[in-house]
Amino acid sequence: MADLPPLSTEPYKGTRDFYPEDMFVLNHILGAMRTVSERFGYLEYGASPLESTELYKAKSGEEIVNEQTYTFTDRGGREVTLRPEMTPTVARMVAGKRRELAFPLRWYSIPNLFRYEQPQRGRLREHYQLNVDIFGVEGSEAEIEVISVAAGIMQTLGARDEDFTILLNHRGLMNAMMAELGLSEEQGRKLSKLIDRKNKMEASAWSAVAKEIAGEAAATAEKALASEDLGTFLEHLPALAAHPAVTELEEVLRGLAVSGVRNVRFDPSLMRGFDYYTGVVFELFDTAPENRRALFGGGRYDDLLSIFGADKLPAVGFGMGDVALRDFLEVHGLLPDYRPATRLYICRADGAPSEAIMALAAELRREGVNTAVDFTSRKLGDQIGSADKQRIPYVLVVGERELESGTFAVKELATGTETSLSREELPAFFR
Ligand code: HAM
Repeated sequence: MADLPPLSTEPYKGTRDFYPEDMFVLNHILGAMRTVSERFGYLEYGASPLESTELYKAKSGEEIVNEQTYTFTDRGGREVTLRPEMTPTVARMVAGKRRELAFPLRWYSIPNLFRYEQPQRGRLREHYQLNVDIFGVEGSEAEIEVISVAAGIMQTLGARDEDFTILLNHRGLMNAMMAELGLSEEQGRKLSKLIDRKNKMEASAWSAVAKEIAGEAAATAEKALASEDLGTFLEHLPALAAHPAVTELEEVLRGLAVSGVRNVRFDPSLMRGFDYYTGVVFELFDTAPENRRALFGGGRYDDLLSIFGADKLPAVGFGMGDVALRDFLEVHGLLPDYRPATRLYICRADGAPSEAIMALAAELRREGVNTAVDFTSRKLGDQIGSADKQRIPYVLVVGERELESGTFAVKELATGTETSLSREELPAFFR
């Protein structure tokens, strides 16, 4: 048989390997997500990454379903999709146990999601995404709470107000705008899709397509969409001032202000791609220009449970990915310093019996000290070099002499400082 060429060591396109230092950063991010979600009373749930394809056909939106899913037929002939988002799954789970669950229901999860995207800064084919969702709250308190959770995570990770902006819009207001501009449902749908692509297109090309879709109304639409606050938007479309969506947006802005979240503003050009949103929608952006992709996005989706034949249930939530968040931490100098979980590396000197070292290590581990042992009998310098390369902070050289005397020298690698300790004193030193 001919020799096969060696296999590539690269991970599959658009996915990442997490070497321990990357895993440390990921866990730092996921840890902040967990801590803050739980601080607001959210409970963790989970599910399989495999879902029946039909789950996404109903309401996720064409782009996601037709262009971005990993879908295959299983051996039993079923169409299966690797989840591209968690919202349909959580809606399915809530609909399935509706009668047994306590409302308002606060749930969070950190699934890995799969989207067949063109890999680029901030967007990959597999990412982790915190999902925070609240079910059973009709009022704006729900939006205010989940956006506060997201802002709380940013703060916990060290972000300052000026580092990010939260943008708000309302699907109901957008529908009302289309009607006010005299557009048909079809024109409105097309214009919405175009608005969603506003940042990805040349301004002049965008205007030309807008005019093709909306005719004379395009000019008013364009001016209104450029507004940076509700007041300006309503100056262009005064008939919308009394729309309930305006009241809701004002409530959310006020509620966030009293909760200490002030870097929020209305942005009528924020659309969100999913078809299931029914009310307020929001996204969070880095203010640093090199990070252009949203860090999180979400909104209200009061009708999604109806695809399972269940009654309507008010729901609001968001998804926050680890990829853009890591870029954010990098750009703002907020990446944590790597610290391996291993605290102590025991080196074996001059053929000390390995049983004696095992017993010592076992004792330290029982006391909660994360301890690795180098059993290689290599030169001490090489053993210490391994500890150093792994950035383990302390080494303990154990030889016949230490075992007999019961006195050990712990060396801190960063400083070279040695501390002499008895066997009994050892565990306390690491606490
Ligand atoms: P989404 O806007 O598609 O919303 O995703 C939310 C966040 O996940 C994005 O802002 C981004 O940080 C991250 N993300 C999305 N796609 C990728 C990707 N290909 N690579 C890296 N990061 C990505 C949703 O998925 C909604 N289901 C969120 C939601 C929950 N709405 C209500 N509840």
